[in-house]
This record gives sequence, structure tokens and C-alpha cells, in this order.
Amino acid sequence: MSQTATKNLRAVEPVSPTAAESQRAAARPAIRIHDLRKSFGQFVAIDGVSLDIGRGEFFMIVGPSGCGKTTLLRILAGLETASSGTIEIDTPAGADRPENAMVFQGESIFPWMTVWNNAAYGLRMRNAPAAVIKERVGHYLDRTGLTRFADYYPHQLSGGMKQRVSIARAFANDPEILLMDEPFSALDAQNKLLLQEELLHIWDEQTKTVVFITHSVDEAVYLGDRIMVMTAQPGRVKGFVRVPLPRPRAIIELQKAPEFGELIHRIWSELRDEVQRAREQENQDAAQDKRG
Ligand SMILES: Nc1ncnc2c1ncn2[C@@H]1O[C@H](COP(=O)(O)OP(=O)(O)OP(=O)(O)O)[C@@H](O)[C@H]1O
Ligand SMILES: [Mg+2]
Repeated sequence: MSQTATKNLRAVEPVSPTAAESQRAAARPAIRIHDLRKSFGQFVAIDGVSLDIGRGEFFMIVGPSGCGKTTLLRILAGLETASSGTIEIDTPAGADRPENAMVFQGESIFPWMTVWNNAAYGLRMRNAPAAVIKERVGHYLDRTGLTRFADYYPHQLSGGMKQRVSIARAFANDPEILLMDEPFSALDAQNKLLLQEELLHIWDEQTKTVVFITHSVDEAVYLGDRIMVMTAQPGRVKGFVRVPLPRPRAIIELQKAPEFGELIHRIWSELRDEVQRAREQENQDAAQDKRG
């Protein structure tokens, strides 16, 4: 298998690192992807993707539909294997935490479990002590405004509340890396805004490495430290845009900042051609299907 996960890199560090060594360790990326390629049969979904994601970085991915964003996230989560290339995930030695937790688009909580049990699921699966479960789940249900609904079942919740349960579950599980695949795309504008602000508050409290896919250029700028724009299929890196907006961020205030408009313009000008190209590809495929 060509995919590698280099774990516990810190285990080889000297016991008392020098200042320079400490600096290097801090600078070491949480995720290092080198020349990643994924094909499904003859179809190349991702090609030649190389990038580093820093520890604690809020990293956004945008790109046209079908360019391989979800595939890339699934490879990072270990749910899919790469065809070639390498992925290194730097997890601290001896940490009793899962490497990652994924928040999917739409319904990803168990319908037969209460809100509390859904949020506690990851911790229970790794046999966390009852006191830890109580403390963590209680904390994140509180942070996501769900304490009152702890005994509810998913069918008694709105779409926004279900997404909050997914977020509470992911944070309660305390992963090294949080992988989020368009978690808010199915929500109405008001709920989306509230959840984006909640996510920023939780992230400010406990800075985690986040890899977050979105179709919304606005959302990418509200949340991210850095944005990767991908090309139309096969998905490659088109470019990176850094978001130099200060934190903590208040989303409504950001919209008034002149840099906000400039960033949206820069990202969209990278993205526009790729979205157009993806559309043309779809039209060609549809025409071929018709003919043959
Ligand atoms: N298991 C699979 N078998 C065959 N093809 C697949 C498989 N998974 C994904 N693909 C193809 O790989 C390409 C990339 O899919 P992916 O879901 O990663 O795109 P995406 O960028 O997340 O798109 P969207 O923005 O619409 O969610 C698509 O053309 C898809 O059909
Ligand atoms: Mg996708």
C-alpha cells in the first residue's frame, strides 16, 4: 500500500529539546500530503496533490462539484486508500485521542439514539471513563445549545439541530484532526450563520486542526486561515489563498471589512474557470451518453 501514516513522530525527539528544536516541532505540519493520486478504474479523481496543513490550522477546500474534495477527505479519514502518493499525519506520542473525527453533510447521526447517546458515541466506542463522558458530552451539548434536548431523538429535531449534534459528537471525541464535509450546506441562511459562529467559538476555545470542505466562498473566508482552490476533474491544487483576517471573528462584522470583498474576489476569480470547465465536462459526458 502506498499510503503511509507516520505516527508519533514526536516519540523520537530528545527529552529536552533545544529552542530551535522546539520551534521546528511547532512548525511541523499536522498533515503532509505528497503527490497524492486517486483513480477509480480508468477515471482519475485526484492527481498530484501535495500540501502541508499546519497544527491548529483551519484549512478550507473549495472546488467545483466532482473535483475530488470528498474523496480527498475520505482518504485523510482512512475510509479510502490512495492509488499512489503519501499522507503523513503527525500525532503526538502517547495521546489518548482518536486521530480524526468526520462531520458529514446531511444526516449522519443515529436515528435510534438520543442526542446525548449520539454525542457520547465516539467516547463510548473507545471506552472512555463515565466521568469523562459526562463532562465532555455535557460541555459540548451546552456549547451547541442542545442541553435541553439531550433526551430527544433525531426525528424530534430540526436539520440545524441534527448538525449541531454531529458537531458536538466530533468535538466531544477530542480528535487530533476534524474533517468536515460541507456540514452546513443543507441549512437555511440564518441557521447556517448561527452554526458557523458556534463553530468559530468552539474552535477558538480549543484550537484544532480542521479540514473543511465548502462550496461557499463566503464561508471559506469567514472560517478559514487558508483556502485551497482545486481544479475541475482530475482534482489538482490550483492555488492557495491565505485569509489574514484577525480572530476571534464576528461573521456579520467581517462582511463590512474591505479585505473581505477583496478575498472573495480573489478566490472566485481562481474558481470561476474551474466551475465553467466542470460544467463543460458534464455537458460533454451527457452528450456522449445520449449518443451511445
Ligand atoms: N467509489 C467511487 N467509485 C467510482 N467513482 C467515484 C467513487 N467515489 C467518487 N467517485 C468519482 O470521483 C469524482 C470525485 O468525487 P467526489 O465525491 O470526491 O467529488 P466532490 O468534489 O466531493 O464533489 P461535490 O462537490 O459534488 O461533493 C466524481 O466524479 C465521482 O463520481
Ligand atoms: Mg463532496
